[in-house]
Amino acid sequence: MHDIIQKLEDKRASARLGGGEKRIEAQHARGKLTARERIDILFDEGSFEEWDMFVEHRCTDFGMADNRIPGDGVVIGYGTINGRLAFVFSQDFTVFGGSLSEAHAEKICKVMDQAMQVGAPVIGFNDSGGARIQEGVASLGGYAEVFQRNVLASGVVPQVSMIMGPCAGGAVYSPAMTDFIFMVKDSSYMFVTGPDVVKTVTHETVTHEELGGAQTHASRSGVADCVFENDVEALLQLRCFMDFLPASNREMPPVRPTRDPVERAESSLDTLVPDNPNRPYDMRELILKVLDEEDFFEIQPDFAGNIVIGLGRIEGSTVGIVANQPLVLAGCLDIDSSRKAARFVRFCDCFNIPIVTFVDVPGFLPGTAQEYGGIIKHGAKLLFAYAEATTPKVTVITRKAYGGAYDVMSSKHLRGDVNFAWPSAEIAVMGPKGAVEIIFRGSLEDPERIAALTEEYRETFANPFAAGARGYIDDIIMPRNTRRRIARSLAMLRGKKRENPWRKHDNIPL
Ligand code: HXC
Repeated sequence: MHDIIQKLEDKRASARLGGGEKRIEAQHARGKLTARERIDILFDEGSFEEWDMFVEHRCTDFGMADNRIPGDGVVIGYGTINGRLAFVFSQDFTVFGGSLSEAHAEKICKVMDQAMQVGAPVIGFNDSGGARIQEGVASLGGYAEVFQRNVLASGVVPQVSMIMGPCAGGAVYSPAMTDFIFMVKDSSYMFVTGPDVVKTVTHETVTHEELGGAQTHASRSGVADCVFENDVEALLQLRCFMDFLPASNREMPPVRPTRDPVERAESSLDTLVPDNPNRPYDMRELILKVLDEEDFFEIQPDFAGNIVIGLGRIEGSTVGIVANQPLVLAGCLDIDSSRKAARFVRFCDCFNIPIVTFVDVPGFLPGTAQEYGGIIKHGAKLLFAYAEATTPKVTVITRKAYGGAYDVMSSKHLRGDVNFAWPSAEIAVMGPKGAVEIIFRGSLEDPERIAALTEEYRETFANPFAAGARGYIDDIIMPRNTRRRIARSLAMLRGKKRENPWRKHDNIPL
């Protein structure tokens, strides 16, 4: 008995040491924490329960039979984050470069299966050289097993990928199928083919960082949802982020008590929209003033800035915010902003998170780049996402809601539950200037007459009354009361039950 306990302790010590002191030092020298240090920061103190510490690879080629480290390069288990259950797998770069063997993949699959069964989120820390080269096809099979589970878990339990080191080749497709990808600056990268292959095939010279670093994916590709300065910041922010999410699609998001009065009026919002309809303003100001304690977790802040998305709370309950941003491209919808918002709307709908939409949209961005890039299909994604969503939807039109973009942005016609407009709202087919140019094409030359007709159009159509007369908006509200009016609407909608017709699944224009 004594021998076995001694052996057990030795194995545990060996697993905890991973690839050894030297490799741990190298990991720290790169500014990275180890797999276990990351877990310690993520979970509430003392709450982590580890599984499969004794799992070893089964490879015997290339001298691997004599090279086994208990745990095989990934730490798995579960713990609590602010008291709520979550599962984790954390790849250990000090063990065979965190590379994925058959056994390593089986461990990841084990936590994913368990998370789905009990209904709790899965968080993956990715820090890996990819498929375990000594194992060949067995590791490829392992990846595919993980991919299959990512797909089955999608929309069932939240999945978050933390990219905290290398993530290359086919390995990128597991994070890509999760709900969110967070990256760490300077120490993480993601690409399908690395700089050397790029050089050979396309003759482009590019660094790891330029090709797939955190900044690249945060601002150019839109692959990363958030980017953080270092591991510690990333993990602490992840803890805050998880607080917004429900454990699964069968639960509502958690309610966090707030001292921020729901009746709080914000008189400064009455002057947020400038008198000149062509002048921009910062939609973030409205978002912050509406949310509890101005606490807004923005997602993809550096990508497609013409739309703002993120999570916050109203009266303690999580809401998803989607808002046109007049500061960027006048708030037009384009390919990137449509894709960005569509995926977020679908995420919120999967997990019963109500969506609050702030609208100031002059239309879709014109141009050959947009048309050739397929704005028709990409814009349709956002339309489709809003139309299929059955979660509560509250919409506030602050200024422009023109043309097709009016329809798209959670309009009443797409089953918006409560739709408000501010007095400054202009809900029409297009702006007054463009409308007069088309209606009187070629027949008007006198600038004064054009100005008079433009004004006449503005007074007739560029206001909230025509939409109000048809019930397309439920009320015209004073900006200062926006928080209270949204909160009451959401409280009224708490018992909402709505289902779409039965089908295998829909066919969103991907
Ligand atoms: C086995 C690996 C490994 C791998 C790294 N190591 N990657 N062992 N399989 N894929 C080992 C190294 O041998 C080394 O062992 C240790 O991990 C650390 O690696 P270093 O190279 O010293 O670290 P660094 O200089 O930081 O470079 C990291 C790296 C590099 C860029 C990730 O190791 C690398 O290029 N690795 C190979 C990447 C690759 O080609 N992977 C397969 C891709 S195909 P020692 O004992 O010296 O510490 C793929 C397909 C997936 O992944 C398909 C899914 C469908």
